[in-house]
Amino acid sequence: MPLTTTKEMLKAAQKGKFAVGAFNANNMEMVQAIVEAATEEHAPVILQVSQGAIRYAGMAFAAGLVKIAAANTDVPVALHLDHGTDFDQNVLCLREGFTSLMFDGSSLPLEENIVISRRVCDIAHICGIPVETELGKVLKRGATPQEVQDAMAKPEEAERFIEDTQADSLAIAIGSVHALLSQAAELDIERLKAIRDAIPDTPLVLHGASGVLEDSVAESIQYGICKVNVATYLSQAFTYALFDSLKANPDVEDPRQHLVPAREAAKERVRAKIRLFGSNGTIKSGGGFRSPPTQHRVADIGEAED
Ligand code: G3H
Ligand code: ZN
Repeated sequence: MPLTTTKEMLKAAQKGKFAVGAFNANNMEMVQAIVEAATEEHAPVILQVSQGAIRYAGMAFAAGLVKIAAANTDVPVALHLDHGTDFDQNVLCLREGFTSLMFDGSSLPLEENIVISRRVCDIAHICGIPVETELGKVLKRGATPQEVQDAMAKPEEAERFIEDTQADSLAIAIGSVHALLSQAAELDIERLKAIRDAIPDTPLVLHGASGVLEDSVAESIQYGICKVNVATYLSQAFTYALFDSLKANPDVEDPRQHLVPAREAAKERVRAKIRLFGSNGTIKSGGGFRSPPTQHRVADIGEAED
């Protein structure tokens, strides 16, 4: 089906108390891994394009891959800009056909964050595209516990932030940290509850979920988290499987032979997260690929000259 926006997805998630997985994809194999897992699990899914993905693949390739994957599945797929850095980039993504945007003004003073978030929302809404904004700041690996604490979203700012920006969903800093290599962080559920109570209609977004304890993620979904962002956890699976394959088969020169197990490893991690988020089985209609699924077995690839 064509790309869908995150608007209906997140509303359904809010109502059904599940979360939609938002997975970062940097190449064709990752896009396939994510969409195939979502298709098999009958789950809506968000594919997000980060700043790094835009630098690596270019916006047209990054968006094009997701559009092709969406066209070949019956589950809803949204194409989302992750951590959009400025107004212009958000507008360029609108032109490219993104069906969900993010303006991340978390490094800016609050008032500036509000002003630019509002400008992005105004223009995106004309095109019927929803926008995620960020309150507080989800920091990166290396931040101290005190820095993480100090950067958390303030519940008392949430209502005005949503009123003034008109944002459709809100990423909130509640204790997660980007790019952690193991699941160690615990979320501040009381803070989440206070934010949810202040803005009960706004779907809330969890960033940096790779490093959050699974019980804590599951609990947060019960209190308003409707979109959960996962990147590092998938990259780890992909890279480690690639490394294992290269180590085990140093004489195999066909990169596809190594990329197949990498794609499979990432896919199984997407599947596990979809089940944790409770979005599996939420899409009723048949599902499945309209065209034949991609080959998964190394034996199916054929010779290197193919
Ligand atoms: O915006 C992307 C995410 O917040 C991913 O964070 O790599 O820690 O899972 P992660
Ligand atoms: Zn993030």
